[in-house]
Amino acid sequence: MIKSSVSPRFSDLFHFVFLFFLCNMMYAQIRNAPLTKIDAERAEQNYQKYCTLCHGADREGGAADYAPSLKSKSLMSTMPLNFLASSIGFGRPNTAMAPYLADSGGPMSMKDIFTLAIWLKYKAGHETIELSMEPIEGDLKTGAKLFAQKCSECHGSKAEGITAPALANPAFLAFATDAYIKYAIENGREETEMKAFKTQLSQEQINDLTAYIRSLTSGWSPEPKELSPYPEAKDYVSNPTGKNPAFILKQERYVPMEQVAKALKDKNKLILLDTRTSSEWHNAHIPGAIPIPYYISEDKVAEGLPNDDTWIIAYCSCPHAASDKVINMLRKKGYKNTAVIDEGFFNWINAGYPIIGGQPK
Ligand code: HEC
Ligand code: HEC
Repeated sequence: MIKSSVSPRFSDLFHFVFLFFLCNMMYAQIRNAPLTKIDAERAEQNYQKYCTLCHGADREGGAADYAPSLKSKSLMSTMPLNFLASSIGFGRPNTAMAPYLADSGGPMSMKDIFTLAIWLKYKAGHETIELSMEPIEGDLKTGAKLFAQKCSECHGSKAEGITAPALANPAFLAFATDAYIKYAIENGREETEMKAFKTQLSQEQINDLTAYIRSLTSGWSPEPKELSPYPEAKDYVSNPTGKNPAFILKQERYVPMEQVAKALKDKNKLILLDTRTSSEWHNAHIPGAIPIPYYISEDKVAEGLPNDDTWIIAYCSCPHAASDKVINMLRKKGYKNTAVIDEGFFNWINAGYPIIGGQPK
């Protein structure tokens, strides 16, 4: 879908290798001594700032967009630290899980990401279970059939994720070993909708499912891109000489995407706020949108935004959580003509409305 054509720079490959070594180093550290008090405090602050919106205040998951639990024993005891850190750093492409690594345009340094990953493990407090790296053999046809019967209602018919994570996701499959996938199917994820299947399915059936999920692999490597410069305040308003659009809101807040697409086509005057993680804006956004991520502070949120009758329209992929948060901050500051795109960014793309990549022109 929204892919950059830029191949990874040398420094990104370097970072990737670096990430691997750093991870091994930190792993030794986590075994011997956990985090320093300062590191733990910083990690907790970063968690509150960047993650609670979807993963919940206590890591329980499901606060928005069906984000998974980050405390279940099954996940935290089997997800290796480099997998955890890469999930945060590089995200899961085409899901609401954005890349947080600064190189990808996100807000966090590599060190902050690792510290957060270690903190998540430490908070969960479960012993690490070392799983085998060996591939698991199974029958793909039977696996596909079982998947359609038992799994697709939550994970989607193409394992693209609906109420449950995308299992066909290239960034997931690049790190998830067969044993990791099998363990999740056997044991489920405590206190989530993912039940343990070990009593319901035979070992052979679970192997077939694992092999099927593995077969959905496509090549993936983190693809940090040339970052485009942020727009300046003088360019915030789209079509500054155009007419004001006549939006009709639902629940005094949500505007159907069709109305926004029409307003852009008619060259109406408006401001679009992309409230996702800044890396997502770099990747692709609605033309003219400016990056105002949900974790911006209250004193910065309105910087450069005119408080007159200009419509300010926010969107995210959640599809409401991040935009609601930003719009609430603006309304508190007295901004009146504000709204949220009801359907969110993924539906906007799927409807074929315009987006542009974040490449510099
Ligand atoms: C009722 C909904 C539901 C069904 C049915 C279901 N799952 Fe899940 N599954 C989930 C949810 C929700 C999660 C994420 C749980 C969490 O960590 O919060 C999940 C997580 C997983 C994971 C771990 C993903 C990761 O990112 O670590 C795997 C693997 C998985 N499911 C496989 C399956 C398979 C195979 C089946 C069918 C046998 C299945 N699931 C059926 C809801 C479901
Ligand atoms: C806008 C919502 C949102 C925010 C904010 C968010 N996540 Fe996620 N996260 C998700 C979703 C949705 C998934 C599942 C994606 C998929 O379908 O694979 C996910 C998946 C993950 C996973 C993989 C878990 C698994 O079971 O495979 C980790 C780890 C994770 N997020 C950590 C974080 C951390 C740490 C932060 C804060 C720095 C964060 N996320 C911020 C929505 C979010």
